[in-house]
Amino acid sequence: MVHRRNKFRLGILVSGRGSNLQALIDASKKKEIDAEVVVVISNNPKAFALERAKKHKIPAIAPPDQSEKAFINILKQYDVDLVCLAGFMKILSPAFLKAFPKKIINIHPALLPAFPGLQAQKQAFDYGVKVTGVTVHFVDEGCDTGPIILQSPVVVQEDDTLGSLTERLLKEEHKSYPKAIQLLATERLKIAGRRVIQRKK
Ligand code: GRF
Repeated sequence: MVHRRNKFRLGILVSGRGSNLQALIDASKKKEIDAEVVVVISNNPKAFALERAKKHKIPAIAPPDQSEKAFINILKQYDVDLVCLAGFMKILSPAFLKAFPKKIINIHPALLPAFPGLQAQKQAFDYGVKVTGVTVHFVDEGCDTGPIILQSPVVVQEDDTLGSLTERLLKEEHKSYPKAIQLLATERLKIAGRRVIQRKK
């Protein structure tokens, strides 16, 4: 391993626009988190997230070999402490999870366990909930079922459209993801079964 270790090292998996990636890059640059994005990997070579990473001189890789093994190898090569899924549209296999035990997290735009899976904002909006929100959770073998690190509520306003609600949820995502990562970077979390417990400072 060729990298000097000082900060908590993040490997980010993306498939699309990468606004959450951008929030993490910004939080790191502003020193709001004791962590840095050391590599960005995409299953989609056209993902705008890759451009965002390149702009900040962060290695941005869309491996021609799309096997999970290739992804794992890159993450190991960059010696990451944490794998963050940020709009990554692929379910990880048990073998992938085993390669990074308790070291993979995801952000989901609803208050799990309500509205897992795709288009969570729309699911919540169409259901007519009064409160929805954002969840950051560890990734396990299910779809959006892993232990919850943190949740932030977002109130649905009477005059919300799906678009306005999605926008407010996204803003909340951009605050919640760095917060959760900071808890991990500073070793403040303990997983006890389904519960993720915050140690006092
Ligand atoms: C976010 O809403 C995230 O919660 C979900 O996919 C979207 C990704 O957006 N998993 P972006 O690529 O980070 O802008």
